[in-house]
Amino acid sequence: MKAFQLEDTCGIGGLMLRCNLEKPEPGPDEVLIRVRAASLNFRDYIVAHGQYPVGVKPCVIPLSDGAGDVVEIGISVTTVKVGDRVAGCFFPDWVSGPLTQEIFQRSLGGPLDGMLAEYVVLPQRAVIPFPEHLSYQEAATLPNAGVTAWHALVKAGRIRAGQTVLLLGTGGVSLFALQFAKLHSAIVIQTSSSDEKLERARAMGADYLINYENTPEWDEEVMKLTDGRGVDIVVEVGGAQTLERSLRAARFGGMVTLIGLMAGFGKIDPLPLILRSIRMYGINVGSADMFRAMNLAIATSGLHPVITRTFPFDHANYAYAYQFNQTEDHFGKTVITV
Ligand SMILES: NC(=O)c1ccc[n+]([C@@H]2O[C@H](COP(=O)([O-])OP(=O)(O)OC[C@H]3O[C@@H](n4cnc5c(N)ncnc54)[C@H](OP(=O)(O)O)[C@@H]3O)[C@@H](O)[C@H]2O)c1
Repeated sequence: MKAFQLEDTCGIGGLMLRCNLEKPEPGPDEVLIRVRAASLNFRDYIVAHGQYPVGVKPCVIPLSDGAGDVVEIGISVTTVKVGDRVAGCFFPDWVSGPLTQEIFQRSLGGPLDGMLAEYVVLPQRAVIPFPEHLSYQEAATLPNAGVTAWHALVKAGRIRAGQTVLLLGTGGVSLFALQFAKLHSAIVIQTSSSDEKLERARAMGADYLINYENTPEWDEEVMKLTDGRGVDIVVEVGGAQTLERSLRAARFGGMVTLIGLMAGFGKIDPLPLILRSIRMYGINVGSADMFRAMNLAIATSGLHPVITRTFPFDHANYAYAYQFNQTEDHFGKTVITV
């Protein structure tokens, strides 16, 4: 079969197309998937540079996120059948309950082989049918960005109608968060570096827009928009450069869900957290149970994930370059058709 492997962790240059790898075979509890699409996340850049905290398997097949068809099942498999359209789980061992160290050690496209291949084998617990109205490309965006946004807003944030959420930037996670917030009839304050992207977010339902380049003190603007109260939930993808402002933009007793590090690592002043009794909650993707709950909401609402660009399989390196160069038209998810 064809697959990409990371020959070494020197960056995108380490990505090599292999045309004669052995097609994997499913064991009794496993499922063979013909992959149709895969998608990229910032984490894949970290993996390609060998900076993933739990290490990267030598010559790993990269990318945690993908979707395709079940083409063969082991004799003990009962949860899916041949012909089902499915996606894989980021953490194949995380079915439900809290994340553990053991689960964290094993994720696709880093410690374990991932989805940038024609065929993958996964344990049945990590194989999730996706909503019928989605294409393979759309379904391939769900396992990481979709589940992370769901975990932050719905599972951890327990979002309710009428609450206000603050979303930073218009990347994959934040746009899923926008869609899930609107599904729950919440009010959305959306930031971006681009007015054009803000208008696209408005068309998706964002209620208030802030350009964080033109308004560097965006936390003050959030306070004005909420009559000095602050927001109920922040989906924090920026990291050290944005976290203090996010804490200042949250209401007393509000929640800041910590997801990303787009704006880098660093130290923060925890005082607003103490003074405002804010709950900070670290999110690490999510479980198969969260994935299924999210799929139910997507199926019921008819929601479509936002794809910024799709690349053919043989041009996977262009997809990496597009995703990580953060070009001006980047809005949502980057997908590779397999
Ligand atoms: N913890 C987890 O489980 C988990 C899961 C998925 C992702 N993540 C992390 O979450 C972050 C976002 O992931 P993603 O997949 O959504 O990335 P993405 O699709 O590449 O989106 C990046 C977006 O972040 C925005 N951004 C960059 N710097 C910013 C800043 N200083 N302030 C506000 N927004 C800023 C930009 O929005 P504009 O262009 O609109 O300005 C940019 O388009 C990454 O750090 C990623 O590693 C974590």
